[in-house]
Formats: sequence, C-alpha cells, structure tokens
Amino acid sequence: MKKILVVGASGQIGSELVPELRRIYGESNVVAADLKDPSQLAPTLVNGIYEQADILDTERVAGIIKKYNIDAVYNLVALLSSVGEQKPQLSWKINLGGLMNLLEIGRELHFQLFTPSSIGSFGPATPKDNTPQDTIQRPTSMYGVTKVAGELLCDYYYKKYGVDTRGVRFPGIISNVTLPGGGTTDYAVDIYYEAIKKHHYTCYIKAGTYMDMMYMPDCLKAAIGVMEADSSRFIHRNCFNVASMSFEPEQIAAAIKKVIPDFTMDYDIDPVRQGIAESWPNKMDDSCARAEWDWAPSYDLDTMTEDMIKVLSKRLLNK
Ligand code: SER
Repeated sequence: MKKILVVGASGQIGSELVPELRRIYGESNVVAADLKDPSQLAPTLVNGIYEQADILDTERVAGIIKKYNIDAVYNLVALLSSVGEQKPQLSWKINLGGLMNLLEIGRELHFQLFTPSSIGSFGPATPKDNTPQDTIQRPTSMYGVTKVAGELLCDYYYKKYGVDTRGVRFPGIISNVTLPGGGTTDYAVDIYYEAIKKHHYTCYIKAGTYMDMMYMPDCLKAAIGVMEADSSRFIHRNCFNVASMSFEPEQIAAAIKKVIPDFTMDYDIDPVRQGIAESWPNKMDDSCARAEWDWAPSYDLDTMTEDMIKVLSKRLLNK
C-alpha cells in the first residue's frame, strides 16, 4: 500500500485530507506532519501517526520521508493571500522554501509530490471568464507570486530531474472543520458560521465580485484524483485548473436564505482583499483536468449550502 505524508496537516485542507487518506489507504500508511505541538491538534490528526516538524528543516523532513518509506507527499504548507500581503517576505520564505526543500529531497528519494496552486496564481491581465488552462499569469499578490513560481519549479523538477510533481489550481475552499487561515475567499466560509449564529453577515467583498469556489469534499477528490491519475494521459502537470462553482456574494446569500429565510447581509468592504479578489478570475475553465484525468466535481452552490448548514447547525447549535 502507498505510504503517504501530509505536511501542513493541521490547516484547512490537511485537517480533512488526513482522515480521508487514512480511510482510503489505512491508518498505518498515512503520516501527518505539522509545525504544531500535538497537544494543540484535533484527535483526528494525532490519533494516527503524527510527526512535529518544520518544513524548512530539510534534514528533519528527509528523515521522516526515509523513516516511513514515503511514496507520496501532499505539501499543504502555505500562507494564504491576505496574510501574505501583511507578511510578504515570510510568505515567500514559507511557501517556496518548503516546496524547494521537498523538491530537493524528491530528487534523491523519488516520491510523488502534490502541491496546490490557486486562482491566486492569476492576475489582472488574465482573461477573467472561462480562464484557460494556459494563459497569462502575472499575479499582483505575494501569494500569487509564490504560487506561479511554485508551478514553474514543479514543472522544472519534473523535466530536469524526473520528480513526479502534480498539482491543481484550487478555487476558494469552503469547509466546516478547520477555518481557512487568512485568505481572500474566507468570506464564503465565515458567512455560514455567522448565518447560523446571528442570521446576519457583514461581507468584506463587494456585491458583483465573482470568484471560483469549491466545497471540501470536491477539494479532497481533486487532490487525491490527480495523485492517482495515470500520468501517461497528462499533457499538463503543474497545475490543472479545477472548478465547480462560481458566485458573487449576493448569490451565496440567496442560497443561504433558501434554508434560513430571515438571513440578512450588509457590506463593509476591505480594500486589500477586494483588490486581490478583483485581480482573480471570475470563473476558470477546467476542461483540461476533465479530459486528462476525468476530473468531475460533485457539489454546486445549493447542495453545498444545504450540507454546510446541516453540519454546522448540528455542531454550533446542537440541532
Ligand atoms: N483561498 C485562497 C485565498 O483566498 C485562494 O487560494 O488566499
């Protein structure tokens, strides 16, 4: 059975990817690693194999990969876009330093490496509607700069050294286990928590601003799907556009209203996150992922909304 390591395991995606990988590949075949002390983490992460490690410590990471004979690494270490604008130098150091370490270790130890890119890898010069797989990528956020550089590095290490790098460009990810850590698309997560707790949300993104979004089960499906794909079909590699829904704030509010009729929303725009959002696509074209490894999402805005409200109502209100 494939032996898998997830680095950055305690984040929004890792905290759900680790249990899903353990379900598929078996508890003893999935190692979770993160900077955090295990006492700070959810039982779902630390009940299985857990290693506390700093991604920037090459020897420590290489040691873990050797110790468990790892065949595949999911690299989820990153500062998101909004935090990246507050700490651009740190964002460069962590997002690319961590990746570079894994690529270098990969030259020697030969494992598959998944690194997500993002809608953030695009910029104002990119075509906004049906954004093609291969197009202009001149992002204006530091997060985007690290994501484009990461895509290119992954391609380079595949071509030059044969490291089996793979990736997707994720939309904003909507989930209900761990909150995202400082992204531009976080409003589409926060809105559900506030809708349940207060029946009201103050949105920092302007009405009419479209962005791609995706529900966590589809995010996990995309990550695992591209890693399990038959790469002889690949024309692309780093990174595939993957999409499932695109909406603007009024549309997610309307979807919530169908389930919570007295829900209301007003606006208090954050200029930094609004600027980032406006530089990103309205909607990506994911036809290459569909053609090259049969990518197909399962959730749309209404089915995601019903599920989010059901799960969060149970947890936050005990009903
Ligand atoms: N969710 C991310 C962000 O907003 C985009 O990849 O930064």
